[in-house]
Amino acid sequence: MAFEFPHHQIASHGFARVGAPVDIGAAFDILDEAPQDVSAREALLDEAFGPARFLKTCERLREGRIPARGLALVAKGEGRLIATMRMWPIFAGAGRPALLLGPLAVARDCRALGLGAAMIEEGLARATARNHRAVLLVGDAPYYARFGFDARFTRELVLPGPVERERFLGLELTKGALEGAEGRVSGAGARDAVAMPRRARELARAA
Ligand SMILES: CC(C)(COP(=O)(O)OP(=O)(O)OC[C@H]1O[C@@H](n2cnc3c(N)ncnc32)[C@H](O)[C@@H]1OP(=O)(O)O)[C@@H](O)C(=O)NCCC(=O)NCCS
Repeated sequence: MAFEFPHHQIASHGFARVGAPVDIGAAFDILDEAPQDVSAREALLDEAFGPARFLKTCERLREGRIPARGLALVAKGEGRLIATMRMWPIFAGAGRPALLLGPLAVARDCRALGLGAAMIEEGLARATARNHRAVLLVGDAPYYARFGFDARFTRELVLPGPVERERFLGLELTKGALEGAEGRVSGAGARDAVAMPRRARELARAA
């Protein structure tokens, strides 16, 4: 999706959003991630999170898997990759399919222009269009609350590792989708047959 005007107003996609419309100060496109984007994506994630990103609990739900179809997004502006966001199939407890959002990162010199919000809104709109019913993430509640994410949806859910409960958030794309959600969150994405396992890559980098 192209965002070409100096003051783009993000459309509402039917989920809760609090606050003023987002102003974009520069033109950019939100696109499906392509294979040639991977190295720039990884560089952006390294810059945003450092190598410890591979140790995050959410990584246990992503490693060795591929993102949900149509939900690996990048933003490009002035010919470079300036944001990345992916969403992953998971089970939010037994028999309850959902998505995991993350990692989301915006290039340092492009922050606070509404790009992070545009990525999230585009991702949630696409997820809704593909009939996904709920999204979980681990992130800063003061940022994600504006999109409707709330820790109340995840109280009875358990991640495969440590998490600060106030950062473990959920969003219902369909009302009631996380009602009664309980138990272990597990990865449900298709296995990535070609990628080197993340742990191995981390070790290779450290060597
Ligand atoms: C978090 C991040 C994706 C936000 O992207 P962005 O394009 O700068 O965000 P937006 O322009 O949509 O929103 C900017 C607003 O969010 C606020 N904000 C940004 N990060 C925030 C955070 N971690 N907690 C609370 N508010 C935050 C800004 O202060 C700003 O507030 P304002 O609208 O009142 O001025 C970006 O800062 C980033 O890549 N950070 C490093 C990686 C990261 O932390 N990823 C998210 C994991 S929680």
